Amino acid sequence: MKPSIVGICIFLAVIINDVISDKIKDGTKLNDVNFVPNIRIKRGISVTNSPTNFTAADNDADNLEDDDIVFVCGENDDETKCTCEEDQTLNCRGVTWDFFGNNLDHAKIKISDKNFTVKIADFTYSSIRNLKKDEILPGQEATIANLIFQSNTLKSIENGTFDKFVSLKKLNLQRNALTNINEKILSAKLGATLLELNLSLNKLQNLSLFAFQNLKNLIKLNLSLNRKIKLFNKINGINVTVFPEALSNLKILDLLGCNLASVEDNTFINLKNLEHLYLNNNPFIRVPKGITKITKLISLNFADTLIQSLEDCDFCDLKNLKNLKFDYTFELSYIHENAFGAISNKKPISLDTFSIQLCNISVLPEKLLNWKNLSKINIESNPITCNCSMAWLINDYNATTPMIVDKMIDDSNVNYKNNIFCWNPSSLSGIRMNSLVIEFCMNETTVIQDTEKNDDTIYHVCSDKGEEDTLLVL
Ligand SMILES: *[C@@H]1O[C@H](CO)[C@@H](O)[C@H](O)[C@H]1NC(C)=O
Ligand SMILES: *[C@@H]1O[C@H](CO)[C@@H](O)[C@H](O)[C@H]1NC(C)=O
Ligand SMILES: *[C@@H]1O[C@H](CO)[C@@H](O)[C@H](O)[C@H]1NC(C)=O
Ligand SMILES: *[C@@H]1O[C@H](CO)[C@@H](O)[C@H](O)[C@H]1NC(C)=O
Ligand SMILES: *[C@@H]1O[C@H](CO)[C@@H](O)[C@H](O)[C@H]1NC(C)=O
Ligand SMILES: *[C@@H]1O[C@H](CO)[C@@H](O)[C@H](O)[C@H]1NC(C)=O
Ligand SMILES: *[C@@H]1O[C@H](CO)[C@@H](O)[C@H](O)[C@H]1NC(C)=O
Ligand SMILES: *[C@@H]1O[C@H](CO)[C@@H](O)[C@H](O)[C@H]1NC(C)=O
Ligand SMILES: *[C@@H]1O[C@H](CO)[C@@H](O)[C@H](O)[C@H]1NC(C)=O
Ligand SMILES: *[C@@H]1O[C@H](CO)[C@@H](O)[C@H](O)[C@H]1NC(C)=O
Ligand SMILES: *[C@@H]1O[C@H](CO)[C@@H](O)[C@H](O)[C@H]1NC(C)=O
Ligand SMILES: *[C@@H]1O[C@H](CO)[C@@H](O)[C@H](O)[C@H]1NC(C)=O
Repeated sequence: MKPSIVGICIFLAVIINDVISDKIKDGTKLNDVNFVPNIRIKRGISVTNSPTNFTAADNDADNLEDDDIVFVCGENDDETKCTCEEDQTLNCRGVTWDFFGNNLDHAKIKISDKNFTVKIADFTYSSIRNLKKDEILPGQEATIANLIFQSNTLKSIENGTFDKFVSLKKLNLQRNALTNINEKILSAKLGATLLELNLSLNKLQNLSLFAFQNLKNLIKLNLSLNRKIKLFNKINGINVTVFPEALSNLKILDLLGCNLASVEDNTFINLKNLEHLYLNNNPFIRVPKGITKITKLISLNFADTLIQSLEDCDFCDLKNLKNLKFDYTFELSYIHENAFGAISNKKPISLDTFSIQLCNISVLPEKLLNWKNLSKINIESNPITCNCSMAWLINDYNATTPMIVDKMIDDSNVNYKNNIFCWNPSSLSGIRMNSLVIEFCMNETTVIQDTEKNDDTIYHVCSDKGEEDTLLVL
């Protein structure tokens, strides 16, 4: 720290010593000083500039302790660290607010510039521990649509804190230390407007059955990485879901990394319009039955789980499902031919993307999905057995119009068809699938059900002897 700055700080400390004397008594070292020249603290004292007219603003503050109010964005506040930016954004990200370089620890901010209406208020990387009623941008609540308290140290929120935010659509409380949230915080007044709520990376545990009961307009709920969260509550011995009927508009639910080994069958029963569900990075060992009732589901993520098999009809009822992910599910070793209803519903649900990268799959049933109709198939890094059961795929390499291998596209949008290796049988271990010779299946008697006999674009390597000649000609 440059001595001159320290000098200025000491000088200022004398002038307004009531502001900071307690800090000095706290033992704060002046060496740590991070001089912030222009934030007004303590009754609008301007540290370096002449005060502007705050009378009106101060009167709005009613019963607030004006002592802590920080004035920003005034004509003479050009160096304040909170900035009033385009798109009506009040940016207080990582703002230090006093001479000691302490982070802002409250949100009692007044915008001096009367022409500026806040729509987005961003307090990311502050040190706010508690949120209280009338202490977030007092008097200016009504216009705020997006309130961000991401990465603070929030431990508690007073009931009714958000009731004056009559336009609030997005509330971001991600990465804090909240252990609880309830219906008095997520009140009916808030619920009237709120569309997105992010509670990811908190310490939520025992949610009450009423916690979300007011959020009738909510579209997106992020509860990811709350490692001790419980999604049901016992009432008279019955497990009742914490997702109430009020959440019938919810479209996106993120439960990534919530340490869920299972969910009750009725967990998602009220989420009638849910389209995107993230259950990845949880210790599930089987596909929970609870998902079969979410009939509007479009995308489902089970990546990085402990699921070992996809069983008969696990996904039969998910008629709208388009995207399914199981990547990094290293134990996933078996997929039932009817997992998507190919047999019992006559045809499988029509997925658009299917991803099992880095699983333990050796054989994919031909009938499992309508493979040709997918736009992305990611089966990279599986111990594939190159036997007749996989002929439907192997044959596609040499089809005049390949319908499957060209969809073998990974997460980086790269086609990996030439980098698929056979794992088994041992005679073919390490061989690229694209280099297999057509005779490899020839002396097998197994006949791959040949429904495409008239389709001359397809090779059928696993045919009976009778077709051998035809094949060799091709
Ligand atoms: C202070 O506010 C009063 C009342 O709103 C106004 O009449 C006066 O001109 C303002 N003074 C300055 C310096 O802006
Ligand atoms: C505030 O808005 C008025 C009218 O739109 C304009 O005349 C005035 O210059 C603006 N003041 C500031 C400080 O931008
Ligand atoms: C806040 O609301 C919750 C849920 O209704 C209630 O249990 C709690 O006692 C309330 N807290 C206060 C301080 O009133
Ligand atoms: C957290 O939620 C807010 C509001 O929905 C959203 O804007 C933000 O992107 C979310 N954070 C992450 C990392 O997804
Ligand atoms: C939920 O929050 C996490 C970060 O905490 C983020 O990675 C994830 O993308 C968010 N989910 C959604 C659906 O936005
Ligand atoms: C949640 O419930 C468990 C078991 O009833 C209890 O041990 C724990 O302290 C509770 N957590 C909170 C934050 O109330
Ligand atoms: C309720 O949930 C617990 C824990 O998941 C489970 O052990 C119990 O069998 C469930 N009870 C009922 C009636 O479903
Ligand atoms: C992978 O599957 C094989 C059988 O095909 C099994 O022996 C092995 O244990 C599985 N590996 C894992 C990690 O589940
Ligand atoms: C392929 O998908 C399209 C669009 O989803 C659908 O209209 C078409 O019927 C599908 N074709 C087959 C053969 O399933
Ligand atoms: C192919 O290999 C798998 C084991 O990896 C086996 O279950 C299957 O029956 C084999 N298919 C044929 C046609 O032999
Ligand atoms: C495809 O054709 C090439 C040459 O045309 C051949 O080397 C390769 O073995 C064939 N692959 C299959 C799977 O038939
Ligand atoms: C035919 O099968 C036998 C035994 O299963 C095997 O040793 C031989 O290599 C196969 N021949 C061809 C051309 O695949």
